[in-house]
Amino acid sequence: MQENKSQLASIIVNVKNEAFAQIMDAESVEELENLRINYLGRSGKLTLLIKDIKKLPKDEKKTTGILINEAKDALSKAISTNKNNLKESAREWFDATIPGIKPKIGNLHLITKAIEEISDIFERIGFVRVRYPEVEWDWFAFESLNMPSDHPARDEWETFFIDKKPNSKHGQVVLTPHTSSGQVREMNRVKTPPIRMINIAKCYRRQSDASHTPMFHQFEGLVIDKNISITHLKGTLDYFARNFFGPGRVTRLRPSHFQFTEPSFEVDITCDVCGGKGCKLCKEGWLELGGAGMVHPTVLKNGGIDPNKYSGFAFGWGVERTYIMKSGLKIEDLRDVYSSNIDILSQF
Ligand code: FA5
Repeated sequence: MQENKSQLASIIVNVKNEAFAQIMDAESVEELENLRINYLGRSGKLTLLIKDIKKLPKDEKKTTGILINEAKDALSKAISTNKNNLKESAREWFDATIPGIKPKIGNLHLITKAIEEISDIFERIGFVRVRYPEVEWDWFAFESLNMPSDHPARDEWETFFIDKKPNSKHGQVVLTPHTSSGQVREMNRVKTPPIRMINIAKCYRRQSDASHTPMFHQFEGLVIDKNISITHLKGTLDYFARNFFGPGRVTRLRPSHFQFTEPSFEVDITCDVCGGKGCKLCKEGWLELGGAGMVHPTVLKNGGIDPNKYSGFAFGWGVERTYIMKSGLKIEDLRDVYSSNIDILSQF
């Protein structure tokens, strides 16, 4: 019996020592968890030894039971202390020699860049950059521009109307369909010419296809002074085309109609792809940029300016369309500009 007693006690001590050695060498929390299962789990080495206690004489059962319990407690404490130590050291581990993760450097959206470039070109010849409201009164968007409420010319603008009670003086509220709504606002602001305005703002129309977006930007030039003629308009447009598109590009004026200019033109620029010879993109060597014309006398009167003393010109072009005509840019669908597709936008 004595032999039995010392045998089981020494087995317990051996198993405990063996387990301790492995716990001290363990390098991960997973390894420690496996050791807990191997020694202290339901079928663990130490747990199974408990069954042998019943074979011992009565007076030895108690001391051997205490020995096993102490061994179990000691191992389980050692396992949990080591688990905590390993977790702690994993948190504090830091290798200053490993290169850091470089944050991706963003850039301005291509339309923001285009607006900056366009402003800069016009400011160099004395234009003043302004920005008039996107949510506008009917008066500034239509009525003051010689388009009374029943005029069919209004249909072209595919307007978004705002659900707000009309104002007796200024009419309904609309999302402005063009930057021409800034013309009479600028006349009201400056009062006495000369005026040299470049208004760049958001515009809205009920349109969406490869060459139209529901929200887009226009830049609107307005010059009013004594003796302003079409040659000033043509000179300004050619100056812009050379500076924005490159020295070889020129513009042409093609007769058109707008209610707020007389005469009115569409402005075309020589095609970049074929150099003006005619190709698949442009057909005849020219690409359309936008509208222009001499300010209508009624519009001058609506802005409080005497058309017998002053004359002026205006032009209004889409920023998006103008920008994608720049040499080398290949955007086939205007909606891509606002798609948030990084592959497309990171090219610019
Ligand atoms: C106008 O908006 C006139 N206000 C231009 C003007 C100003 C004429 C001053 C005379 C004097 P139009 O509707 O053609 O005209 O638009 C001008 C340009 O805006 C177009 O050539 C195009 O470049 C751009 N544009 C118009 N609608 C959209 C749209 N839905 N998406 C993107 N660009 C557009």
